[in-house]
Amino acid sequence: MIVKTSEEIELLRLSGDLVSRTLAEVGKHVRPGVSTWDLDSIAETFIRDNHGIPGFKGYAGYPATLCTSVNDQVVHGIPSKEVILKEGDVVSVDCGAILNGFNGDSAYTFCVGEVAPEVKQLLETTRLSLFKGIEKATSAFRMGDIGYAIQSFCEQHGYSVVREMVGHGIGKRLHERPEVPNYGHRGAGCRLKENLTICIEPMINLGKRDIYQERDGWTICTRDHQPSAHFELTVAIGKHQADLLSTFDYIEGKK
Ligand code: MF3
Ligand code: CO
Repeated sequence: MIVKTSEEIELLRLSGDLVSRTLAEVGKHVRPGVSTWDLDSIAETFIRDNHGIPGFKGYAGYPATLCTSVNDQVVHGIPSKEVILKEGDVVSVDCGAILNGFNGDSAYTFCVGEVAPEVKQLLETTRLSLFKGIEKATSAFRMGDIGYAIQSFCEQHGYSVVREMVGHGIGKRLHERPEVPNYGHRGAGCRLKENLTICIEPMINLGKRDIYQERDGWTICTRDHQPSAHFELTVAIGKHQADLLSTFDYIEGKK
């Protein structure tokens, strides 16, 4: 597990800013009738117009700029002309971009028109759980404290935490050590070092936590086909508080 220099953190902040702005651009186009392929094209164009390179395309053979995971799809849904968003859907949009050799990686689950209140609640709780985790992203804590914060918050609300996929360190490579689970025990796991840069990305299910992989070799689905939510931010571990390297502010109209 390698900590970053302040120069490297500033470069990661630029990459994080690009993915944050890309997600906001994509979010403007999320509406009934749009295909996830259209969203992918919008993201790729925006990243390249801003001198970046899509970070997921070609990674382990992944074919697209975004992962677009609709309803019971948890993560790694492949954009397709055949997947047309409809009123009431939720779509997790996960975006990676490389700038100056450093990776940005963030995800946001968007509502398509009006969504059932219980699904909106799932999204809001998942988003809040990410910030509960971020509160523990300081050198006063250990990895298990982040996971515990996310897991306990989500389970208190009656949701379940996906275990098979986890967050990760990030830098010149998209996935670096350490792993960042969304479950865990207080005081357990590795000590969090100042200037370690990680992606925290809770994947939370309305129903049971069990998942399976679709036959395309990528898409992860809930076994019970109930909806799932996914939010991801990149942070640098701080002494007293985490330093956010990506943001939802562009999406949520605060920036
Ligand atoms: N944010 C996801 C992750 O960290 C995106 C990876 S998709 C891949 O796993 F295609 F690039 F693998
Ligand atoms: Co990630």
